Amino acid sequence: MEGLRVGVIGSGFIAKQKHVPAWKRMGRKAQVVALCDPNQQQAEQLAREHEIPKVYGDFQEMLRTERLDAVDICSPPRTHSDIAIRSLEAGAHAMIEKPMAVGTEECDRIIAASQKTGRKICVAHSDLFYPSFLKARELVKQGAIGEFRGMRIFLSTPMDYITSKPDHWAHKLPGGVIGETGPHIIYMTLAFINPIRDVRVQSRKQLTQFPWSPYEDYRVELIGEKSSSSVTLTYATNRWAVQLDLWGSEGHIKFDLETQTVVVHGRADLKPVTLGLSAIKEAGQVLLGTADTSLSYATGRFENTHERLVREFVQSIQTDAPAPVTPEEGREAVRVMDLIVKQLPSQAV
Ligand SMILES: NC(=O)c1ccc[n+]([C@@H]2O[C@H](COP(=O)([O-])OP(=O)(O)OC[C@H]3O[C@@H](n4cnc5c(N)ncnc54)[C@H](O)[C@@H]3O)[C@@H](O)[C@H]2O)c1
Repeated sequence: MEGLRVGVIGSGFIAKQKHVPAWKRMGRKAQVVALCDPNQQQAEQLAREHEIPKVYGDFQEMLRTERLDAVDICSPPRTHSDIAIRSLEAGAHAMIEKPMAVGTEECDRIIAASQKTGRKICVAHSDLFYPSFLKARELVKQGAIGEFRGMRIFLSTPMDYITSKPDHWAHKLPGGVIGETGPHIIYMTLAFINPIRDVRVQSRKQLTQFPWSPYEDYRVELIGEKSSSSVTLTYATNRWAVQLDLWGSEGHIKFDLETQTVVVHGRADLKPVTLGLSAIKEAGQVLLGTADTSLSYATGRFENTHERLVREFVQSIQTDAPAPVTPEEGREAVRVMDLIVKQLPSQAV
């Protein structure tokens, strides 16, 4: 069977860093045959780097001209619903970067188009596919921390990623920059706490030198039926971090999405021997985990989040199975984002 003919829409940060390289790894199973971006010069540069034969400035022209089996939508969120619906109508399956769209109405229109055309949607909830996230999820499922009781997420996005850039499209999303990175903390929470019934939000403007940015510090409580997720998002540092804690009746898992370390610990008492053993066990888990991650990088075995997503999406098309992240999951994350945005005071900018 011939490989899937894929068109990538958008040639910016995430297309260049993750999507196009991930499709290239699919070998004969899928080929990126066209790339499209109104910034044609940028698209041509990316196409040259990856030997993509055709470049378009307009996605509708690409859809009309190419016989695409799938598109990969890597453009800003406000463009997602229109591009997704027109692509589905042109007969293509669609991978959509997060957030699936802006508002649940747009998501509903995408879902209706997918059902009408019989084409699949996969939303790139990419953090779910970090090896450390997958491992922590599996540990919880196996009962490693007893009964799940709650979680905490710390996410730090450096100032120069979005905050310091006055013209970045993310400042114009509902809620500002949280509309860009916020989906990650919602879908990661939904992996453990579903449904999310309510939210509480506190936002703070810290950096007056960036008047276009409404807030740089957000504290969000995502409240489920029996447990909650407490989230801190900061855009006011020069550092990256995504760290999570999960706790249950019998233990606690700490994990890091960047180093891939996962540490399980449980201290039944506070005797010096117990504490000493706990510290040694934690250090051992960090060392062994780091060695394993390094080895998988060195041997080319390491599969990054988007590589795994693309591979599973292609598999879902070939076997007519549900996509690795369904449009309903994408919509649920957007619904919770809407709840967050409603709680923000009218924007400071
Ligand atoms: N999963 C992740 O970890 C992750 C990380 C970064 C960005 N993203 C998501 O990826 C998407 C793109 O973000 P980015 O950081 O790459 O943005 P970006 O601004 O770097 O790139 C977006 C590109 O889309 C192009 N574009 C705009 N309108 C278009 C249209 N109608 N047709 C074709 N191209 C169009 C722009 O010219 C630009 O080159 C967003 O939804 C963002 O939230 C996800």
